[in-house]
Amino acid sequence: MEQQKRYGHFDDQHREYVITNPQTPWPWINYLGNEDFFSLISNTAGGYSFYKDAKFRRITRYRYNNVPMDNGGRYFYLKDGDTVWNPGWKPCKTPLDFYECRHGMSYTRITGRKNGVEASVLFFVPLKKWAEVQKLTLTNQSQETKTLKLFSFEEWCLWNAATDMENFQRNFSTGEVEIEGSTIYHKTEYRERRNHYAFYHVNAPIQGFDTDRETFVGLYNEFANPDAVMEGKPRNSHAHGWSPIASHYIEVTLAPGESKDFVFILGYIENEQDKKFSALQVINKEKAHALIAELDTTEKVDKAFAELCEYWDALLNIYKVKTGNDKLDRMVNIWNQYQCMVTFNFSRSASFFESGVGRGMGFRDSNQDLVGFVHQIPPRARQRIIDIASTQFPDGGCYHQYQPLTKRGNNDIGGGFNDDPCWLIFGTVAYIKETGDFSILDEMVPFDNQPGSEVTLFEHLKISMDHVIKNLGPHMLPLIGRADWNDCLNLNCFSWDPNESFQTTENVSEGTKAESLMIAGLFVVTGKDYVALCKKLANGQRSTVNGQWSMVNVQCDFAEEANRMQQAVDAMIEAVKKHGWDGEWYLRAYDFYGRKIGSNECEEAKIFIESQGWCTMAEIGAEDGMVAKSLDSCKKYLECEHGMVLNNPAFTKYIYEYGEISSYPEGYKENAGIFCHNNPWVIIGECIAGRGNDAWSHYAKILPSYVEEKYQTLHKVEPYVNCQMVAGKDAFRPGEGKNSWLTGTAAWMWYTVSEFILGIKPDYDGIRIDPCLPETATDYTVCRKFREAEYEITIHPNGVQKGVKAITLDGQPIEGTVIPYSVGKHVVEVVM
Ligand code: BGC
Repeated sequence: MEQQKRYGHFDDQHREYVITNPQTPWPWINYLGNEDFFSLISNTAGGYSFYKDAKFRRITRYRYNNVPMDNGGRYFYLKDGDTVWNPGWKPCKTPLDFYECRHGMSYTRITGRKNGVEASVLFFVPLKKWAEVQKLTLTNQSQETKTLKLFSFEEWCLWNAATDMENFQRNFSTGEVEIEGSTIYHKTEYRERRNHYAFYHVNAPIQGFDTDRETFVGLYNEFANPDAVMEGKPRNSHAHGWSPIASHYIEVTLAPGESKDFVFILGYIENEQDKKFSALQVINKEKAHALIAELDTTEKVDKAFAELCEYWDALLNIYKVKTGNDKLDRMVNIWNQYQCMVTFNFSRSASFFESGVGRGMGFRDSNQDLVGFVHQIPPRARQRIIDIASTQFPDGGCYHQYQPLTKRGNNDIGGGFNDDPCWLIFGTVAYIKETGDFSILDEMVPFDNQPGSEVTLFEHLKISMDHVIKNLGPHMLPLIGRADWNDCLNLNCFSWDPNESFQTTENVSEGTKAESLMIAGLFVVTGKDYVALCKKLANGQRSTVNGQWSMVNVQCDFAEEANRMQQAVDAMIEAVKKHGWDGEWYLRAYDFYGRKIGSNECEEAKIFIESQGWCTMAEIGAEDGMVAKSLDSCKKYLECEHGMVLNNPAFTKYIYEYGEISSYPEGYKENAGIFCHNNPWVIIGECIAGRGNDAWSHYAKILPSYVEEKYQTLHKVEPYVNCQMVAGKDAFRPGEGKNSWLTGTAAWMWYTVSEFILGIKPDYDGIRIDPCLPETATDYTVCRKFREAEYEITIHPNGVQKGVKAITLDGQPIEGTVIPYSVGKHVVEVVM
């Protein structure tokens, strides 16, 4: 039998995934940077860097979907006699004697060995610094003295990643650089409106350099065999226009056993308008010099790296589980939380599937991402909520996306996605429950970023709820607008023109009867949250953690508001029971003409996952058995070996009235793909219904560590994170994964496992304990930092799937299932 190919394995002790074969089935990447300066790096050192915004401040160039795949990155070439090689194997692809890539928490270490020389590069972005550090360690492991020629390589992007790849008539004449000692500066467009430049530095004297791409590579050569490297001779080229690059040339001699470090720094600088130049056409380099001085020795770099590791230690110490099941523990304690931070940072903008030019930060996406991240750095979540709410319109609608650099709503896409407003409640409630900081509701937040239009955040939540209520259709269900969570269910689009975008085209909406059961469920879930919040506020419970009273600005009769919204929620529940039930499952929607979608009466796509997830989470009709039937139908029709598909049966033809959803071939994306993002909705539905065995079996099917073997060949994408979509049962090759990293799946997997399966739920007054487990679960302990407290919670499941029997807090029995919040360390025992 053919031996199963493996490309790597987990190293939990170091919180790393170790790749041992560079020829992974797809580039397996990592993210560097935590706040402003970011890089994407593949296991062969491919990728690029940017400052804040992958579109408007792209620092280095990248070519997507290239031949060969993943072409371009930060490359080190070593010429040892006639052999030229790279520590990350690419681009030369010279066979290595040893290769290893360790992707860790915001760092990547790539090591290669060839002919007795080891080259190991540690890549990371130091905390609070606008720079990528590349610490290269060369070691002579042979018995002879080695004389090596070292070339570094970065290719500059002309800042705007979109025009960089299209406007060549201009681009080829604008490129400018400066060279000073061992630093190469990139200053294209700095002479005019830009106040920023980049640099690439090495902390050693250089014996040559190149800054012009064609001179370095040669027009008929490639990154795999650049002229200058193959000849072992830099050209000392100075770029004027064309494509500027940065390459240092260093001659290194190493005695047997000797090791040398080189610190390379890729930095980004902004200057004030009146301090841009030090002389005519000479950039002011003061800040660059200062940044370099902070990182220009091995000691300084090691210290910065230790700080980064401590930062991650602290973040990952907030929620730690010990179940004794390595596969579960490593996802909960390391990778799931790490992916949550990455998606929080990038929304859906920059990955190896998202080009960084097409999409900014999503309104609904960011609110969901926040739920996976809020326990890590609450102040950043707080800021994000304000930024998101600032893109809302006075009627409660909102921009679907905004650009991170400007924080302005994206006009290209606009608004009209009718689920969007509800997500603001989802995000804000999660923030308050985590922090106890009710004062956020008091923040004055503008509409569409217009100064003078500010109202309190609470007011934004209110109009978000109202937006749904004011946009109901003939069945008193929410009108869908352009689309709900499923961007591809375009019921008002009606497009026969391939040049129209499904997302932004709304050819008909006047007189529409298109309603969404997904929004109905979402409205009930977030509406209940909103009502509970109003009741808290009505009770006067508005103090922040440190006991200070806030809520000065909000003028509202909260009891009355709670009442008003409860009625709207009740009405919605009735509408779903009356018009949204198909007998065995919830309908998905009504189309423009008021015809059922996702019904047994339909020819195809008789059942959809989204409404099953949201309506079971909302427990609509639980008393009449609707929830149980819906969950059973998911198992019966949607479940397959790799997870639950989005709809079944798949669409086999394009349906004009449905839009993009029916544009995909069977089994992919929104047409019956396993859209991992929505699987947790059903899993939470299972948990709420107390069906722990089913919840767990759905969860384990899409948990990367559980199916790691599949990733090595079938899934193809990174085995340490969730991907957006796995090809469904109707696909040509079921089980193939796509769109890794940036997906709401991260936050939803976290929310599901941390709060609903393991059952540790932050609440206004403390931590609610409510696990839902498979019968096979054994005792486990969660250490949870919560505000100023730390809880060590041990759960004894006793073979029970759901239901807490008794809780003791520091040895004393407590009433109910909420551990009341109090500062300090506490020990909790839970018996189920
Ligand atoms: C988008 C989400 C959307 C989902 C389903 C994702 O790619 O980022 O906003 O809800 O697809 O269509």
